[in-house]
Amino acid sequence: MYVCICRAVTDTEIREAADGGVHDLDQLADTLGAGTGCGCCRESAQAVIDEHIAECVSYAV
Ligand code: FES
Repeated sequence: MYVCICRAVTDTEIREAADGGVHDLDQLADTLGAGTGCGCCRESAQAVIDEHIAECVSYAV
């Protein structure tokens, strides 16, 4: 599913970026360009990052 329409970035791509060390919107903008257009997706993109990190932590415990 597209999270960032302006840059055509999907939730899967954001999760992969989080696996690669992306943990905030500035890093996401630098790696995928998400959030660098209209900005409407920034809250949703951060939520995808946060949820993915939380899932990874819960699997590790
Ligand atoms: S939808 Fe992501 S910057 Fe516009």
